[in-house]
Amino acid sequence: MNHFEYRDGVLCAESVRLDLLAEAVGTPFYCYSTATLERHYRVFSDALPQGSLIAFSVKANGNMAVLKTLAKLGAGADVVSGGELAKALAAGIPAGKIVFSGVGKTQAEMHSALEAGIYQFNVESEPELAALDEVARGLNMRAPVTLRINPDVDAKTHAKITTGTAETKFGIPFRRAQEAYSHAAKLAHIEIVGIDVHIGSQITDLAPFEAAFRRVAELVPQLRADGHNITRLDLGGGLGVPYENSNMPPPDPSEYGAMVARVTKKLGCSLSFEPGRLIAANAGVLVSRVIYVKRGEAKTFLIIDAGMNDLIRPAMYDAYHHIVAVAQPAVGSPRPEYDVVGPVCETSDLFAAGRALPELKNGDLVAILSAGAYGAVMASDYNARPAAPEVLVSGEQWGIVRPRETYADLIAKDRIPDWLVD
Ligand code: LLP
Repeated sequence: MNHFEYRDGVLCAESVRLDLLAEAVGTPFYCYSTATLERHYRVFSDALPQGSLIAFSVKANGNMAVLKTLAKLGAGADVVSGGELAKALAAGIPAGKIVFSGVGKTQAEMHSALEAGIYQFNVESEPELAALDEVARGLNMRAPVTLRINPDVDAKTHAKITTGTAETKFGIPFRRAQEAYSHAAKLAHIEIVGIDVHIGSQITDLAPFEAAFRRVAELVPQLRADGHNITRLDLGGGLGVPYENSNMPPPDPSEYGAMVARVTKKLGCSLSFEPGRLIAANAGVLVSRVIYVKRGEAKTFLIIDAGMNDLIRPAMYDAYHHIVAVAQPAVGSPRPEYDVVGPVCETSDLFAAGRALPELKNGDLVAILSAGAYGAVMASDYNARPAAPEVLVSGEQWGIVRPRETYADLIAKDRIPDWLVD
């Protein structure tokens, strides 16, 4: 459930009309709903065993105001770079609730995270263990570590967001887990605390999660028998969201929570999770204005002022996003088919092909739904298109939480070397 609904014939974010917001901030713009972020956080946390750490995956939406909203609810953060670590800390997320994931942490990033005193590093390889041991030695500390185990379970999601199969770069192969833990145990500045697993994103079936968690559960007694202190399990993120009306909706968080409890209850470990999309996706929309309706030979193109540089998911993963008119269409009004495209000079700048929508004309507003995760964070200024602003709504209030970039901002990003200065 989310808080984007028609009221008096206009799509609203909570109590704020998106047409008025478009006039105030211009288009395109991202709009996030506080009540939806809060709701998703609570639904997820209520479904999990008490005391679980919910580390919001900052990569899904790194806006400082979004992070602050979640920090106030008690969320931790899952970060994958020094930049995300800095943002999470600046947003008020306590270091003791931050987990650091990712296959390529640099020693500089490790240094910052150790100095901050983060909860744990999810380590993905032996060379990374060696690097972390060295940095921790320099600081005279022990780094709390889980090893990310690749369980070789196919999450049955898009190939580009599958991470738990043997062919991907992620994690340590399951059959080498014991060996990797023995290696870690020999490093004086590494403190083994648990096991980590993450098999992919936008997963709509509980079975692959359960298969992966069972493999982790199998490892716990084996590793303990080898003398390791396994007290924590990080079960990753990945729970999918309903982008389209499908007959296979993603599992309800309560079913997921019940399965987690079933699989982990005898292990005596504290649990952490790294949800991103589940919390943020349906808490955001991308509002855009129709520039032209272009009648082609075989198709009608709805050319809108948002492009693949603003939201790359359809171009990159063939992702489906619902698109709705901001002005509520009358019941039973015609729904012609459009190819909804942006202005970017790429054929893949296509949000939807052959999509039945209400009749639209130049100047009308549309909202691309489920754009709160992996939307603004993946934007670029390709075609010299300034980054779209982000707006956060809370009840009747709204605030610009990232202003629109200007042409001057774009130009000022570059520097002219001496020999080119006039
Ligand atoms: N933890 C780890 C280690 C991850 O790699 C990811 C996502 C997450 C947590 C959060 O997963 P979530 O709960 O959001 O599914 N850009 C793609 C998604 C990439 C996901 C990468 N890793 C998209 O737009 O679909």
